[in-house]
Amino acid sequence: MNLADELLYTVYPYLCLTVFVVGHAYRYVTDRFGWNARSSEFLEKKSLWAGSTLFHWGMLGTLGGHAGGLLIPQAWFDRVGFDARAHMAVAYWSGLAVGIAALAGVLLLLRRRLTDRRVRAAGSMNDRVTLGALTLVIAVGLFNVVFGHYNVLDTLAPWIRGIVTFTPEAALMGPVPVSYKVHVLTALALLAYSPFSRLVHIWSAPVTYFVRAPLVFRRRVPEA
Ligand code: HEM
Repeated sequence: MNLADELLYTVYPYLCLTVFVVGHAYRYVTDRFGWNARSSEFLEKKSLWAGSTLFHWGMLGTLGGHAGGLLIPQAWFDRVGFDARAHMAVAYWSGLAVGIAALAGVLLLLRRRLTDRRVRAAGSMNDRVTLGALTLVIAVGLFNVVFGHYNVLDTLAPWIRGIVTFTPEAALMGPVPVSYKVHVLTALALLAYSPFSRLVHIWSAPVTYFVRAPLVFRRRVPEA
């Protein structure tokens, strides 16, 4: 057993995931009024709209792709005639599309945070670290899509499934290229950091918005 691999790919992931779960509970209990996306739309709208739209759609596609492509075993896809070759091709083209959108969006958001005088003054170091960390994780992920061409289905994917089913197997990560390891390790660090940032808003997506009773607005009628 390689001790470094065991520490990096068994101990470290569970450490990050524990901070993620306990951190969210702690933040929810201690800072309920601060649990939001901390919108800055009233300070600057134009580049927020472009950056945020590209980033959020790219990011939601990326998360969906990671969940579907890595958590579902290839054997299940084989049963419905979707072989590893087809899986890797779909992962490549869809990863490219959502990855480019997410990276372009986060770069626009980062530029806005750093260069718009009002947004910068109202923002905090925490906001800049969050966007900086997202940029790093997304950029390395996209680098892997474009230049990696590594089949993750037999190593990285079963390793992740081992983590979520509490049967970790660090040795699976041995042959994985270093840029994929950097992506995994930085993404786990971001997960651990997220409860202490504005990223908590992800868990309060207003899904009931679509089925709620409509709000009725009436024009104010001046008194006779
Ligand atoms: C679940 C669905 C989501 C909803 C409904 C949502 C909604 C929002 C809203 C309303 C804002 C504020 C924009 C403004 O300033 O007015 C925001 C900002 C932000 N969101 Fe989300 N979000 C979601 C998912 C995500 C995900 C998955 C991530 C990243 C993993 C993310 C990262 C961010 C970041 C970094 C900002 C700050 C942008 C900035 O002001 O620089 N969001 N989101």
